[in-house]
Amino acid sequence: MSNSITLEILRYRPEAESKPLFQTYEVPFRKDWVILDALNYVKDNLDGTLSFRWSCRMGVCGSCGMMVNGTPVLTCATFMEKFLPGPIRVEPLVNFPTVRDLVIEMDDFMGKLTRVKPWIIRENEKPLSEGEYLQTPDELADYKQYSMCINCMLCYAACPIVGLEPGFLGPAAIALAQRYNLDNRDQGKKERMDVLSQDDGIYECTFVGECSVVCPKSVDPAGAIQRYKASTAMEWWKSFVLPWGKE
Ligand code: SF4
Ligand code: FES
Repeated sequence: MSNSITLEILRYRPEAESKPLFQTYEVPFRKDWVILDALNYVKDNLDGTLSFRWSCRMGVCGSCGMMVNGTPVLTCATFMEKFLPGPIRVEPLVNFPTVRDLVIEMDDFMGKLTRVKPWIIRENEKPLSEGEYLQTPDELADYKQYSMCINCMLCYAACPIVGLEPGFLGPAAIALAQRYNLDNRDQGKKERMDVLSQDDGIYECTFVGECSVVCPKSVDPAGAIQRYKASTAMEWWKSFVLPWGKE
């Protein structure tokens, strides 16, 4: 087995280059190294100008997402061994503008998360003296999966609709809306529907399902979107044939 492996890293320094170019680095191969270890080796030993984001190194912060050999992954959770004998090609997440090297611009993504009103909405707040809003374990289980998102944006890089229609609200934002819609303490479903039913909302999704394939936290945003579509169709049907069944 070789002691080293080749990394091909897409570099983009806007002050020096008019377009991104691949740069090649030879790094040690170690069985217990993930891609992020190799990037840190480059940064510490070969080229201190390389820019990339990371923080926790344990699949929690969601900041180290990149394309590795064409697939969006968390680089701290992806072993180099999987790509032997190399080369390993590392690029910034697609479907996002690049700020520098492997660093992408995420403002648009953050704005989409905010648009779905990701907080508990109450029509009538009860006074503090009446105590907390209670929840059973089954009620928690109904939305918990959708609350596990770490905002890594891998699902946006994998989604062909985001690539074609950059305005599409996208998988994580819709899963986040479902996280609150399914929370028994929340009463904001109608407000979120105003956002989700717009042209750039859930009906843009064609259920390719790649978002759920690449999600490192098994959030299953594709499932969240289909579940939301099914529930809105049922509500429409009930209001049509059973006017008294309308909420
Ligand atoms: S839904 Fe999954 S892939 Fe998408 S941002 Fe959240 S954790 Fe990442
Ligand atoms: S460094 Fe935090 S998820 Fe990879």
